[in-house]
Amino acid sequence: MRNVGFIVGSLRKGAYTRLMSQAACELAPASLKLTEIGIGDLPFYNQDLETDTPPAQWVSFRNQVRDCDAVLFITPEYNRGLPAALKNAIDVGSRPRKESVWRGRPAAVISMSPGQLGGMAANHQLRLCLSVIGMLVMPAPEMYVSNAGDLFDGGGKLSNDDMRRRVSSMLADFDTWIGRFAPSPQPLSQGERG
Ligand code: FNR
Repeated sequence: MRNVGFIVGSLRKGAYTRLMSQAACELAPASLKLTEIGIGDLPFYNQDLETDTPPAQWVSFRNQVRDCDAVLFITPEYNRGLPAALKNAIDVGSRPRKESVWRGRPAAVISMSPGQLGGMAANHQLRLCLSVIGMLVMPAPEMYVSNAGDLFDGGGKLSNDDMRRRVSSMLADFDTWIGRFAPSPQPLSQGERG
């Protein structure tokens, strides 16, 4: 079982990105366990707070990322960029530099918009940040989800069959991608072999 943390870039309750995260939990292969890592209560990154006792929310956030084998980002686009809350979370996890929680972890990105462009600018801005902090970002399939308002039913369930197939296939690919970087099983030591 692989532990995948997911981060929703929108803080609003009815967010399409949140609905998509629920669909991802439903459609992920059984080998992936998806758990949300919240970003809404993180104080803005400020180097002055990077002391021996940084804000408790930063410590908790960093530990949650450390506990994951990989991270799935599901983000809207704000003004052709990524939302500030998401950028802040990335900054918080990236410091102190030598203890960055991102480096070497596989990542995948889904961007969404009620418009036609599917948050493509946010997707690429996010990919740039993730590669700079050393995440192993799955290059394909790219997921730019447009017309987000037409994809869910009244109960918030992803009801568009084509999109359900795309999400399920993308998560299967993500599982394979994570597997490429997972540590190989170590041979049992003599003591363990009994
Ligand atoms: C937006 N929206 C938006 N949409 C888009 O496709 N490109 C953009 O650059 C922007 N810019 C933008 C800025 C700000 C500040 C807001 C609040 C909104 C619209 C946005 O896609 C829409 O509100 C989505 O519903 C937001 O995603 P969630 O919250 O539904 O996940």
